[in-house]
Amino acid sequence: MDQQVIYERLLEEFDYNLHVYDTIDSTNAEAKRRLLAGKITKPTAIIADHQTAGYGRHGRNFYSPSSVGLYLSLVWPIELTDIVNPGQITTGLAVAAVEAISDVLHIDVGIKWINDLYYLGHKVAGILVEAQNDALVIGIGLNINPTDYPELIQGKVGALTQDKIDRNDLAIRLIQNFDYYFTEAQLDDVMLLYRERSLVIGQPVQLLLDHQEIHGIAENVQADGGLVVRTARGNRTFYSGEITKLSLPDWRYS
Ligand code: BTN
Repeated sequence: MDQQVIYERLLEEFDYNLHVYDTIDSTNAEAKRRLLAGKITKPTAIIADHQTAGYGRHGRNFYSPSSVGLYLSLVWPIELTDIVNPGQITTGLAVAAVEAISDVLHIDVGIKWINDLYYLGHKVAGILVEAQNDALVIGIGLNINPTDYPELIQGKVGALTQDKIDRNDLAIRLIQNFDYYFTEAQLDDVMLLYRERSLVIGQPVQLLLDHQEIHGIAENVQADGGLVVRTARGNRTFYSGEITKLSLPDWRYS
């Protein structure tokens, strides 16, 4: 990835800081270090070609090999945005990433609640939102075209494309879209797009929540990010937990 190319094209539109690394432990960790050191005064993008200790939700590793992925963190001082609803941020980010992928790679990916992106039945991107020092750190990792995966994630994780693509284009589009969905997009429009791309609405799901398994049909994703599940005990809304089983018999995106 080319710092100069990204910077020049971004600066035409935004007043951002940008840091591009060949290798780093984690772009989210770097973002948090910079926040702690008081070094972040405006929106900042941190991008790496390779992460040695990339991490995701639930304390998991995020496999981040060199040359075949894109690992990006955006740091947003919170007062710069009107959006304060964390659920809306999360759904907006998923939609922003789906659209960036569609614009640059011309493929349609689906969203597994709350913001994992899937293509042809495999996870191809994950998003992690963290808050620290009056700022939000938004991390996204994309598996662009990895060819081999650690045993633990084999069969679960996939690639967005087999082609060599210009990752600068994708990084720029992601930043542009995140900025738009963060500052300008209307909640109704975000939710319309989110629901359209949801892989879970209408599907039988198993949700793992604090070692408890919830079974039911996913009825809806609310504007605040809550997942409504029709269970044997009626409709219940969840704000945390992870969908651990989801059958995708009629894969709608190709
Ligand atoms: C998930 O799937 O649970 C979220 C994965 C988020 C991974 C990205 S890669 C860029 C940023 N740096 C990290 O260490 N994590 C996020």
